[in-house]
Amino acid sequence: MASTNPNRPVQTGLLGWVDDRFPSAFDFYRNHLAEYYAPKNFNFWYFFGSLALLVLANQIITGIFLTMHFKPDASLNASGVPVAFASVEYIMRDVPWGWLIRYMHSTGASAFFIVVYLHMFRGMMYGSYRKPRELVWIFGMLIFLLLMAEGFFGYLLPWGQMSFWGAQVIINLFSAIPWIGPDLSLWVRGDYVIGDATLNRFFAFHVIAVPLALVGLVVAHILALHDVGSNNPDGIEIKKHKDANGIPLDGVAFHPYFTIKDIMGSVVFLMVFSIIIFFLPEGGGYFLEYNNFIPADPFKTPPHIAPVWYFTPYYSILRANTVAFFGVDAKLWGVIMMGAAVLIFTLLPWLDRSPVKSIRYKGPIFKTALAIFVVAFLILGYLGILPPTPGRTAVSQICTVLYFAFFLLMPVYTKIDKCKPEPDRVTK
Ligand code: HEM
Repeated sequence: MASTNPNRPVQTGLLGWVDDRFPSAFDFYRNHLAEYYAPKNFNFWYFFGSLALLVLANQIITGIFLTMHFKPDASLNASGVPVAFASVEYIMRDVPWGWLIRYMHSTGASAFFIVVYLHMFRGMMYGSYRKPRELVWIFGMLIFLLLMAEGFFGYLLPWGQMSFWGAQVIINLFSAIPWIGPDLSLWVRGDYVIGDATLNRFFAFHVIAVPLALVGLVVAHILALHDVGSNNPDGIEIKKHKDANGIPLDGVAFHPYFTIKDIMGSVVFLMVFSIIIFFLPEGGGYFLEYNNFIPADPFKTPPHIAPVWYFTPYYSILRANTVAFFGVDAKLWGVIMMGAAVLIFTLLPWLDRSPVKSIRYKGPIFKTALAIFVVAFLILGYLGILPPTPGRTAVSQICTVLYFAFFLLMPVYTKIDKCKPEPDRVTK
């Protein structure tokens, strides 16, 4: 069915032949690239959306090749090593370029979280979650949750000590839920202990269920963004000022202007990524923990169990609560607080009552609150890596309070803060 748009450019030759049969492809190109007008003042912080797409593609492509050689099997081989663990070692040592593919995937997981955390921080700085982009933000939050699930499922697969004991700690958390808890953790594990059934289901979720949902959500995320248009570092709507053809005066066509900018960002990212993969692939034990190079042993609990760095802020919050109150035990409070710490980002569009969106025009209270939040988040992340001591627990309790205060006090401090007037048109 030909397009009904009278302004559509006429294609000739081979393109015309395709256009007659598949006009949606050309409409897609025009609506999302050549005629998507993005604010001309995008800065450094706007690289991270396209970088997240790049890392997603990296994870999927390297994941496909890993799946060709990985065996989700917890039984022991003739040498007494779990088959899953041995298959990862086989990838690292015997499969041609297997080490590269594996490191691209394992370091790629950390890169994904670095990129996504910076992408979310950009949204917090420029108020990108505010009306009319609430749904873009909500889709983003769903992506974030799935990404955490994806990281968690993936880490079990190499069947090392940390895979096994990390999953043990997290799945046991479910048992803290009243009434259904013990049955729920049994259901998640598929067995009374973490074993072959758990490995198989985590594999299924990691390689197909979650990535499929993730890709669907990313499509929804970008389509929703393109319906309302991108925010920018000034936090003002470029659609307010249009020329005679309806094109925003402060907008430039995404393609070629931002495709070229994003390619530049991608090249710089790939340079840094390659340096890490070739010279520091395990990230000093932060991207792949050293204990995970030891095969899983259900009879030997490691002295210190810590999740990978991207979960540690939440792990600290989980451990921060040490007392029972309102008849709820300390462990369950920890689980509730950890869940709340992740989910609370979803409420940002409604917690922020500031008359302006961008940090450029927000007042000193917001700027201070955001700075304190970032410092608290980083300290929580650091403490989550270390074994707890009374002193560390006290610091993580303070940081947990600061973390939640940033969100819960936001309706008050964004209202009383002294903002600067927003410009009418985008600045630099
Ligand atoms: C797989 C993960 C993700 C991918 C591939 C992705 C992709 C993108 C892309 C390509 C853009 C447009 C370019 C840009 O503005 O940088 C974008 C914008 C945006 N994303 Fe994401 N995103 C992801 C995760 C998230 C998460 C976790 C959140 C927040 C919870 C989020 C919130 C936003 C917001 C608010 C915008 C609009 C920003 C603005 O216009 O200023 N995204 N995303």
